[in-house]
Amino acid sequence: MVSKESLYKDVLLQASGLIEEGQQAVSLFANVSALLKQTIPYISWVGFYVNNGKQSLYLGPFQGLVACVDIPFGKGVCGKAAREQQPVIVEDVHAFPGHIACDAGSRSEIVVPLLKKGQLLAVLDVDSYELAAFDEVDAKHLQSLLEMLANVL
Ligand code: SME
Repeated sequence: MVSKESLYKDVLLQASGLIEEGQQAVSLFANVSALLKQTIPYISWVGFYVNNGKQSLYLGPFQGLVACVDIPFGKGVCGKAAREQQPVIVEDVHAFPGHIACDAGSRSEIVVPLLKKGQLLAVLDVDSYELAAFDEVDAKHLQSLLEMLANVL
């Protein structure tokens, strides 16, 4: 089995070629979603929820099944990560109070905030059909990926 470190090394290498100054946020979010979905085999859904500036997130570019459109800060895993401005790792979504289920098959989730100068721009939401798919290795590398995005936004 390919290690997580090697999968993310590939992601970050490809991202450094894809992410360029001057690109629109929507294009960057679309390509980063596609890159993660096509490179990390245990991802079932990946996408961005964007800060609307009114204590709520709206659905941005994603890869996977159709998803809910609006998530208030504090609601679900995405809303928790947005409110706390910290990554949230959920090993078992069925055990997370208030989890918003968009795909009944989803079993675990990680949400990482995209911050620029302390301001929340969006959150990156990643789901898996596997239980406890995500850990600190995912969090570390996804944060690095989001830093690359923040640098050009
Ligand atoms: N599960 C998320 C909602 C978004 S979907 O997973 C795509 C949550 O609880 O915030």
